[in-house]
Amino acid sequence: MVELRDVHMQFEEKKVLDGFSLKVDPQERLVIMGQTGSGKSTILRLILGTLQPSGGSIFFKQFEITKLQRRKLQEVRRHIGMVYQYSALLSSRNVRDNVALPLEELTDKSRKEIDKVVDEKLDLVGMKDSKDLLPSELSGGMRKRVSIARSLVLEPELILLDEPSAGLDPVIASVIDELIISLTEKSNVTSITVTHEMDSAFRIATRMAMLYQGKVIEEAEPEKFKESENAVVAQFLSGSTEGPILEDSQDAIAKK
Ligand SMILES: Nc1ncnc2c1ncn2[C@@H]1O[C@H](COP(=O)(O)OP(=O)(O)O)[C@@H](O)[C@H]1O
Ligand SMILES: [Mg+2]
Repeated sequence: MVELRDVHMQFEEKKVLDGFSLKVDPQERLVIMGQTGSGKSTILRLILGTLQPSGGSIFFKQFEITKLQRRKLQEVRRHIGMVYQYSALLSSRNVRDNVALPLEELTDKSRKEIDKVVDEKLDLVGMKDSKDLLPSELSGGMRKRVSIARSLVLEPELILLDEPSAGLDPVIASVIDELIISLTEKSNVTSITVTHEMDSAFRIATRMAMLYQGKVIEEAEPEKFKESENAVVAQFLSGSTEGPILEDSQDAIAKK
């Protein structure tokens, strides 16, 4: 479904990805873990094609994202749903209008057809009764649900989730994780979730990858991942202050 091959990403002086490679199979729920600032959101933007890598190639199905013309890229991008970290809802639009937005912008469906899809997706995330509310009237968990509903309206084959449970209290975070699992299973959609939250990662993942200093340093199914002998993974899992991860380790690759 997705492949990143030896991807490099550099922002001016700062090297963020340094030979990052990863393959994602259809219907997997892959979770990429990494520290804050390690490049997780960058990876999602690269897959979505909103950012061009400094080197390497990125494939979505048979398409090489990095080589597509603008028009074709926009067409391919419709098959990828994105759930942003802060939900990214438009504050002046109510729930219905936020969820309808991709359909209004990218399809020629009638108002009636759009309402049908919006109702169906809001129902899936348990938000059908909140159609007329504004984002400011919603809790963090509700905003996340709306954002997930919006990512599904174009029936994507792949969804990308950026720290879906960040900033939510633990109970609501679990509820959102469960929702992600049930939705992806119900609609046979492949998902890539990036997070720095262990509990959430272990709940969601069918496979996990650890990003560190611009590369995947471990990749395994959750049970095996837990037993990783990699010192960085072990430290990340335990949250220990002892180990190779330093507070400034993200800067280390820039100086390497
Ligand atoms: N557009 C940009 N220009 C310059 N630096 C950027 C840009 N986007 C991200 N970065 C830097 O790249 C690093 C990785 O960012 P990001 O992918 O957002 O990390 P994460 O999502 O893992 O917290 C950070 O140090 C960030 O400051
Ligand atoms: Mg991020």
